[in-house]
Amino acid sequence: ARTLVMDVDTGTDDALALLYAVGHPDLTVTGISCVAGNASLEKVVDNTHKVLDAAGAPDVPVAAGARKALIERVQEESAFHGEDGLAGIVLPDTARTTSPLTAVELLRQQVVAADSPVTLVGLAPQTNLAMLLTLHPEVTDHLERIVFMGGSASVGNVTAVAEFNVWLDPEAATCVVESGIPTAMYGLDVFNRLTIPEEHARRWAASEHPAQRLTGELLLRRGARADGLTEQDYVGGIGDAGALVFLTHPELFTVGRHPVRVDLAGLGRGQTVVDRRPVSYDLQARSADPWQTLEVVLDLDVQQAAQAFTE
Ligand code: BDR
Ligand code: CA
Repeated sequence: ARTLVMDVDTGTDDALALLYAVGHPDLTVTGISCVAGNASLEKVVDNTHKVLDAAGAPDVPVAAGARKALIERVQEESAFHGEDGLAGIVLPDTARTTSPLTAVELLRQQVVAADSPVTLVGLAPQTNLAMLLTLHPEVTDHLERIVFMGGSASVGNVTAVAEFNVWLDPEAATCVVESGIPTAMYGLDVFNRLTIPEEHARRWAASEHPAQRLTGELLLRRGARADGLTEQDYVGGIGDAGALVFLTHPELFTVGRHPVRVDLAGLGRGQTVVDRRPVSYDLQARSADPWQTLEVVLDLDVQQAAQAFTE
């Protein structure tokens, strides 16, 4: 099994990702850190515990992290997932307790204590990850890879060019992108395209099994709040959970290796600039500047990836 630590801002699609990660026989989640993003930090932590309950997860430690970005506070919370972060889905109270450690310390401990190299999965603004990598560079030796949902090689969602997770903390994203750790970017080029057929979602939502039922309800509600859509307008995107499907089924995705930088200034702030030129006319040698080559997920086999999630 592959050992994972996850950083989340749960979030309807972070919830789907947690359900998938905890339920997948080849993945072992050893720690979960929370950050404000889709909802306030308190709600993100509470949602994470409740989703783990529904998933029937073992006692995975969950810690609270950053409430705001490193530099610029852009917003309180996102409207897309509702004020509660779970699009109004009410889950039973939880008996799980939050770790007394900070998110950064929990991540550090779980990463350095692991017997084999760990995959760090980021599904949220990257403030906790940036602090981990900056305060504890020794984790680098224990990390196999970072896989983050964020960014885009094409269009943005919050702005014309910036994706939400990167836009909320572009300086933090810079720390991750420039860390030198092997990193895969699962961005908007694929994020909205991995959808589950409606009949599956409706069947799961009617299930007695808590994890199946929550998966179905989340899928039915996702998109229901965006742009005035109602629950009848099924969208069915699994969002962040796709980054986990990429981890378990890389053969279903097309990946390019491209230099990437995060734009920090002005109109392009929060854009992941992906250099896909076949030939460049740069006057300065690329080796002299801090562009890091990342794996950029660019395309996928939608049907097979949906099938993998369903199984
Ligand atoms: C990202 O922003 C959040 O709304 C989702 O959870 C996802 O991580 C998409 O831009
Ligand atoms: Ca998220």
